Amino acid sequence: MCGIIGYVGKENAVPIIIEGLKKLEYRGYDSAGLAVYTGGNFNVVKRKGRLSVLESEIGLRPTSGHIGIGHTRWATHGEPSNENSHPHLGRRGLIAIVHNGIIENYRQLRDELAGKGIEFTSQTDSEVIAQLAEYYYKGDIVDTTIKVVSRLEGSYALGIMCIDEPDTLIAIKKDSPLIVGVSGHGHFIASDVPAILKHTNRVYYMNDKELAILREGSVRFCNIDREPFRKPLETITWSLDSAEKGGYPHFMLKEIMEQPAVLRSTIMSATGAGANRPVIDSLDITGFNKIVITACGSAYNAGMVARNVFERLCKVPVEVELASEFRYKDAILDARSLVILVSQSGETADTIAALREARAKGATTLSIVNVVGSTIAKEADLCIYTAAGPEIAVATTKAFSTQLILLYVLAIEFASRLGRLPPGVAQVLIDEIKGLPDKVAHILEQVDSIQRYASKSVGYKSIFFIGRNIDYAIALEGSLKLKEISYIHSEAYAGGELKHGTISLIEEDTLVVAISNCARLYDKIMSNVEQVISRGAKVLLIGDCHSGAPGVGQDGEHDSEHGGGHGSGHGADLSTDLSAELDAEPDSRLSHIALPQTDELFSPSLTVVALQLFAYFVAANKGLDIDKPRNLAKSVTVE
Ligand code: M6R
Repeated sequence: MCGIIGYVGKENAVPIIIEGLKKLEYRGYDSAGLAVYTGGNFNVVKRKGRLSVLESEIGLRPTSGHIGIGHTRWATHGEPSNENSHPHLGRRGLIAIVHNGIIENYRQLRDELAGKGIEFTSQTDSEVIAQLAEYYYKGDIVDTTIKVVSRLEGSYALGIMCIDEPDTLIAIKKDSPLIVGVSGHGHFIASDVPAILKHTNRVYYMNDKELAILREGSVRFCNIDREPFRKPLETITWSLDSAEKGGYPHFMLKEIMEQPAVLRSTIMSATGAGANRPVIDSLDITGFNKIVITACGSAYNAGMVARNVFERLCKVPVEVELASEFRYKDAILDARSLVILVSQSGETADTIAALREARAKGATTLSIVNVVGSTIAKEADLCIYTAAGPEIAVATTKAFSTQLILLYVLAIEFASRLGRLPPGVAQVLIDEIKGLPDKVAHILEQVDSIQRYASKSVGYKSIFFIGRNIDYAIALEGSLKLKEISYIHSEAYAGGELKHGTISLIEEDTLVVAISNCARLYDKIMSNVEQVISRGAKVLLIGDCHSGAPGVGQDGEHDSEHGGGHGSGHGADLSTDLSAELDAEPDSRLSHIALPQTDELFSPSLTVVALQLFAYFVAANKGLDIDKPRNLAKSVTVE
């Protein structure tokens, strides 16, 4: 939700800010703006619309300066417009600010300032920060910042410049992300690493209410009592390439294609001597009587998949909660509860609130996060990291897949320590996970047939996703992926639930994507398929669909009776041409994407790749802005 960047140094701030905003555009893209100090004033340029509109404006009227701040907006208070875009200035033009977050008491502050004759030029909550700053300003911008934030309720990451100190950039945050970058030619503030990666990989992660004072040759920190302190300078391991499109038309496709590599890295990090291992080892799972997984959106869907795996392997009940609900439900938690928070960004406001609620109730919190140094990573008792690298497309793909891997490994580890797995089975399961990247790569080699099928699917009014048990869990993700980028109405249903109401929606222009990886439920899902076909729907069947796929039996033992030796079932193996059946019957009522064979419990890792490709190519065939779908933002840092 909104991206901010700031620069002070030897170089011209304008191209640095524009480039940085391009990398932050995934956070919000309904308007953008920048302010640079030039010729004794702030030159502010801001425009409604995509960043390209701002760029054109600056192209027509070039500006430059050695200090500046920029912003890309996802509107919360006030419609997208030039006036509501950031930066905002105080009424005398002395102070310029960019803000990411929500000021919850802005009405009260606005009324208070209006009562003193201060006029506002926008409908935003953010403008009160600029106006309040100028109201308090008595010649010391650090003092002013401290006074201002003492009045703010809500969340903020702020970049602040003052006309009287044109060599100083101030930054402070609360509940919204902010980093400070250090380079040879100058220093940066940014909402996220990719914005500054071209210039530096050395950063300070800001904590709440820490104030940073950046000048060309120095970065200093103090608290809100003005006491100075030092922070560790950290080195980012993400490469610059990982934040570029690398020849792909969209980040989403690039990120889908990166999955074999990032799955391998994540598996390595969680097994053997990997970096996540000591954290996993330090958790005394035997001390818990309850496991809750809480998250939002796709991360919640990862939790829904994981519940099946945890319950089947560990034989303990697992609750999966939407973080936005969990935070308000007065959850029953205590010191014997383990709460697992899943988040790519580590900055999702609802997930942060759920984390704090869990901690307040004495639960142990374990986070699974992609962005190092993010709030959820820092505030949880324990954190393990997905090694997905920067994910730029709003629709998550590789981060989701790596979340699944860490959840599988946790489930196996916990089951093993609880004594719920027969000897040797944990290793068999880990070996199976280690085989997933090659199987994903195999699916990715055969995108053409999915692309062809997707190109014929753009005209559907509704697309339903059905599955049973773990297939239902991954159906949720397939449906979310499709609707968020293609704008086609879509729902996911448990197959058995159709007849309780949803089947009335099935008609001629409906597509049903049926997922079938549970051998024991094959006949059940196929009877759902027949029911919808007989009512006019077309069906795309995805999975290791024929009975005999391997799985973990109901007794918790790894079940070779159910076709369980890996590679021994009747489903597609690695040599299968996934496209054969899809191409053979392009217009028939029932088409089929076969997947490489794996254990039923890990099949979502393969299914989701086919679902991601399907969603991507449907949206691509509609010519949509896939990386930045309408109304969405990558990181939802507001409630
Ligand atoms: O950063 P997080 O993983 O906490 O984000 C949670 C959701 O906002 C996110 O997964 C969202 O649903 C994705 N856009 C889905 O593709």
